[in-house]
Amino acid sequence: MAERETWTSRAGFIFAAVGSAVGLGNIWSFPFQTAANGGAAFLVVYLAAVFLIGFPTMLIEFVIGRRGEQNPVAAFKKLGYEQWSFTGGIGVFSSFVTLAFYSVVGGWVLSYIVGSVTGAYFGDPGAYFGAVSAGPTAIAAHAVFMAITIGIVAFGVTDGIERATKFMIPAIIVLLVGLAVWATTLDGAAAGYSYYLSPDFSTLAKNFGSIVPAAMGQAFFTLSLGFSVMIAYASYLGRDDSLPADGSAIVVINTIVALLAGFVVFPILFATGGAGGAGGGPGTAFVALAGAFGALPAGQIIGLAFFVVLLFAALSSSISLLEVPVAYVSENYGYGRSTTAVAMGTVIFVVGLLPALGTNYLTLYNDVVFKFLLPIAVLLLALFVGWAADREAMDELGRGSSFGESFTTVWLWWVRTVVPIAVVVTLYLGVKAIYTSFQKGVYF
Ligand code: PFF
Repeated sequence: MAERETWTSRAGFIFAAVGSAVGLGNIWSFPFQTAANGGAAFLVVYLAAVFLIGFPTMLIEFVIGRRGEQNPVAAFKKLGYEQWSFTGGIGVFSSFVTLAFYSVVGGWVLSYIVGSVTGAYFGDPGAYFGAVSAGPTAIAAHAVFMAITIGIVAFGVTDGIERATKFMIPAIIVLLVGLAVWATTLDGAAAGYSYYLSPDFSTLAKNFGSIVPAAMGQAFFTLSLGFSVMIAYASYLGRDDSLPADGSAIVVINTIVALLAGFVVFPILFATGGAGGAGGGPGTAFVALAGAFGALPAGQIIGLAFFVVLLFAALSSSISLLEVPVAYVSENYGYGRSTTAVAMGTVIFVVGLLPALGTNYLTLYNDVVFKFLLPIAVLLLALFVGWAADREAMDELGRGSSFGESFTTVWLWWVRTVVPIAVVVTLYLGVKAIYTSFQKGVYF
């Protein structure tokens, strides 16, 4: 078998991991989940979830990945705990399911890029969404998005993933900053910022049961945690990188991008009618934004820039979602990388046909991942590192870092107690929410 690739530099790893983290989750779901869940009240819980639960969880995946130096399933075996391999397997499975619907949304983004150029969504944004979101157009666009993803992954870790993300991440940040500056000039900007940034704690108290699982699911999703992606990416990492330092950089950059997206979206929403319409399913973001781009000065150019940002973000994430099952299959069964990428991508495309046929199925896939698979995977990871794995292996966290032994001790304590408790609560509330949606006929 060919020798395992590694990142060419520390920056290469950070770009790739940030690329995985920064995605539709930051620019599409974050602002709209915030809008739908009471604005700043959600933001506070989300930030707490990212830093207090997400960051330590990212370090769990890094430690397992670098120590294991294998794909996420084999890593557990290499660490001496083969019976825990299914934990990595759940992540691989989640990547698989997620890419199936993520690629459908990626296809929508492609259709909106075309629509920005032709002006097709300006007249009737609702009808445009209806036409491109489900059915033949959605399937064709899903195929194109998947083909691009396969193309990048087939090139490999350094020539494909590292090179693509080094270009896309700076482009995303520059364009978002430009859009956020433009958004300050809109009439609704002040009202938008206020909804986004001044928390109303009575909203939080009233909606605790729905805000907490939404914020936690969003935190895991946005940081690509529970998908085994960070295990895989850390396995291509050199021994002397500081995991806590790299992890902090990734979490901070990812958070900045999400916050920036809020600074773009909230003024736009409030310039054209407020956050009121933001709560109804996966299409609302597209309909609301397309409507706003149709109504605002220079909307066509702004819309084009926005959807290009969204496309880069989606691609830099989708390649990490495909990388995980591809690495697993090609390392385990010895198939070539490009053949595996094409074969696996095709299977995922087929699994994505259902969400391309109806947004209700897309919601189903999304909810199963967000509210069920992710919390389970993170819970198992925390239990593994906190309780099962031997302490000596966990010193991996301190290797190459200046954070020292006491940082590892505090981290382990936190991972043993606070993280599992928070995740169990999330899982309970999430499963309850799925059950309620099921009863209400949201999926079928
Ligand atoms: N973090 C990505 C986002 O916020 O859109 C989604 C994602 C990508 C999750 C890759 C998991 C993953 F492995």
